Amino acid sequence: MFDISMDKIVSLCKRRGFIFQSSEIYGGLASTWDYGPLGVELKRNLKQCWWNSVVHAREDVEGLDSAILMHPDVWRASGHIDGFTDPLVDCKNCKKRFRVDHLQSKGNIKKCPECGTEINLEKNPPRLFNLMLKTHLGPVEDDSSTIYLRPETAQGIFVNFINVINSRHLKLPFGIAQIGKSFRNEITPGNFIFRTREFEQMEIEYFVKPETADTAYQQWIGQRFNWYISLGIKKESLRLRPHNRQELAHYAKACTDIEYLFPFGWSELEGIANRRDFDLNQHTLKSGKQLTFFDAVENKRYLPYVIEPSGGVDRALLAFLSDAYREEEVKGLKRVILGLSKDLAPYKVAVLPLLKKRGDIVELAKKITSSLRKDFVVKYDDTAAIGKLYRRQDEIGTLYCVTVDVQSLDDGKVTVRDRDTMLQDRVAIDMLKGYFKDKIS
Ligand code: GAP
Repeated sequence: MFDISMDKIVSLCKRRGFIFQSSEIYGGLASTWDYGPLGVELKRNLKQCWWNSVVHAREDVEGLDSAILMHPDVWRASGHIDGFTDPLVDCKNCKKRFRVDHLQSKGNIKKCPECGTEINLEKNPPRLFNLMLKTHLGPVEDDSSTIYLRPETAQGIFVNFINVINSRHLKLPFGIAQIGKSFRNEITPGNFIFRTREFEQMEIEYFVKPETADTAYQQWIGQRFNWYISLGIKKESLRLRPHNRQELAHYAKACTDIEYLFPFGWSELEGIANRRDFDLNQHTLKSGKQLTFFDAVENKRYLPYVIEPSGGVDRALLAFLSDAYREEEVKGLKRVILGLSKDLAPYKVAVLPLLKKRGDIVELAKKITSSLRKDFVVKYDDTAAIGKLYRRQDEIGTLYCVTVDVQSLDDGKVTVRDRDTMLQDRVAIDMLKGYFKDKIS
């Protein structure tokens, strides 16, 4: 068994072009990250898999892409202006600031995790700090121009509830799904891309008759848990954790987290909440607009309840990376391999010429690459010797390597190497497309 640490994941991400420190040449901006050539492919695949599973594979869910900037009244109605806060205390000695609920000791006497000084909460009571990031709209920077960067994508769905129903003629139950950036001025960001101030969410608001909410809640918990497994996460690395009463957000009747065993311990990947009719009710009161649903069968209007599966794209990506990372030793040869599922792997096939000095081999390899490119994400690489090229492709999770050699020029066949088993097949060039269609599609 090998130890998998965050350091190994971070190092692989940088070395192979998945994730870079943001603004690195200026010393970096704390806890902000840029997705490199491999990271952006992986992220796009992950979001597409989610979209396929919750929108395209279902009759009852529609998509949306709402704006990040919204009317400030949205956040008054949703409770975020008053309630989206963390209680913070300052250490008088080192002047660092901490979330009270993250401090270890019990009662009113806490210990500063940085310098060990005692923090007495009676003398030094916590202050509430709002997590929403602010900016100004227009040329004048005063209170009247303050707007917020959304801290969740969900509110964009609630305020479009009537637009989506009217344009799509929907009946309950139905959902609206959206993927997009959210922003939170987190006090303690960290663990690489696990907790950042700018991140992406994948959220569904699933509207149901109030009396069916408990059943829908359980169904979504099962559906979302199985989605991670269907994309390769080991079942033993996932668990469900229902929230206790004290933990519940102000809008929730119930919430269950899907947790993953990250290298730094069990942590939240996604939450599935029963938000009741809290948001539609609040927006009805604040906007004065009728956000009820007309049930033609029962001939009455009512506010539906909402079940909300809400996951983080970056957190899911970190979980898939951690779960896929392996170090192996086969016949005295060490390799790092990213065993990503076929749907998530950034590159499906790499085409490698055995001898890059032989123009005829290179030409054939490039021809194969461009013909496969029509159907798969394929990369040509001749920047090192074959052993090194295989190891690089293993580290980025490429499913198959196609090697073109001298014999290929005579018999029209190439060697196809499987990433996981390292077994090799000799396949006719004109059969390659069908071969990969069978294996990958
Ligand atoms: N609309 C409900 C909502 O936003 P949440 O539990 O605060 O609920 C949902 O966030 C998901 O968004 C989390 O499970 C996590 O995956 C992701 N997330 C939240 N804050 C994050 C942060 N600071 N950095 C990265 N991901 C975050």
